[in-house]
Amino acid sequence: MLTQLRTIVRASGSYLPERVLTNFDLEKMVETSNEWIVQRSGIHERHIAADDETTSSLAVKAAERALASAGLTADDIDLIICATTTPDLVLPSTAALIQYKLGVHQGAAFDVSAVCAGFVYGVSIADKFLKAGAFKRALVFGAETLSRIIDWTDRTTCVLFGDGAGCLILEAQYAAEDGRGVLSTHLRTDGRYHDKLYVNGGVSSTKSSGTVHMEGRDVFKFAVAGTADVVYDAFAATGLSVDNLDWFIPHQANERIIMGGAAKLGIPADKVVMTVGQHGNTSAASIPLALDTAVRDGRIKKGDLILIEALGGGFCWASGLIRW
Ligand code: ACO
Repeated sequence: MLTQLRTIVRASGSYLPERVLTNFDLEKMVETSNEWIVQRSGIHERHIAADDETTSSLAVKAAERALASAGLTADDIDLIICATTTPDLVLPSTAALIQYKLGVHQGAAFDVSAVCAGFVYGVSIADKFLKAGAFKRALVFGAETLSRIIDWTDRTTCVLFGDGAGCLILEAQYAAEDGRGVLSTHLRTDGRYHDKLYVNGGVSSTKSSGTVHMEGRDVFKFAVAGTADVVYDAFAATGLSVDNLDWFIPHQANERIIMGGAAKLGIPADKVVMTVGQHGNTSAASIPLALDTAVRDGRIKKGDLILIEALGGGFCWASGLIRW
């Protein structure tokens, strides 16, 4: 009997730059207060990349941890996908640089641009390739140096973001035990919202990189109420429901968005993994950073059912159900 290939999670890894920027540090930089930032966003501190660090260097450190956890080496990887909005260079891709730095000399590497939803898009793409038998083992990253595209004089944005990288090693397996693996992913984009959350620069428009701008209240409303469709699609596709979930790991933008979204979906607070308080919003990196945090502190265990979900600029939004 022919068995279908499944995409199994072999390991996670993450890395945060050493430098920590607290709300109290920000009080000295812009007209703001620790109280305001905590009350509106739940963020206490964020990590900022050093001058000699780049998105690919953060990602490589995350990958080394994931490979060590899985007992694998670079030679075992044949697909690298990096979700990022802050690439090292316009070309080649950050994924190609990660491939070079890790010493992977086979397969393919490319970047994904779906802003804060990028990691879920990356998992979805890798899952399709692995299930099709095109590659054997993928490293999927969310990696960002958001601090490089923040206007550090704009208090409405600079208090929210941070830097970091996280990844998953995904593997194609025929005999997946206990129904483990990536069960279903669902992606959406609606470009009519392109001007709600954007960077005001780019190669072909301004020949510069620009800085982050957003209509905070509109983003907030859509993030809480507009993204439930992809979660309901994931439940419909798998026959699972909120009651089956062990963990909800949404994009870590803002504590009020996360808890508002969880309440709308009927997910109890004790099933929500929240790292935004210590990491800030690290865009595509936020979900793999939160995942790896909860794996390493022992919350996530083999066989747990995990829902990941994210909204980012575009708007792009996405969900994924994973049996760990
Ligand atoms: N410190 C102190 N005061 C501030 C700050 C600050 N850092 N930033 C804004 N304010 C002021 C404003 O100027 C305004 O003052 P005014 O009333 O005198 O004009 C007041 O605080 C209220 O501003 P609002 O923008 O209305 O505040 P709001 O309650 O909407 O909170 C926030 C702002 C936190 C950005 C909220 O809209 C939000 O969470 N939006 C979601 C956006 C988000 O998380 N984006 C992240 C990227 S998107 C993503 O990852 C999906």
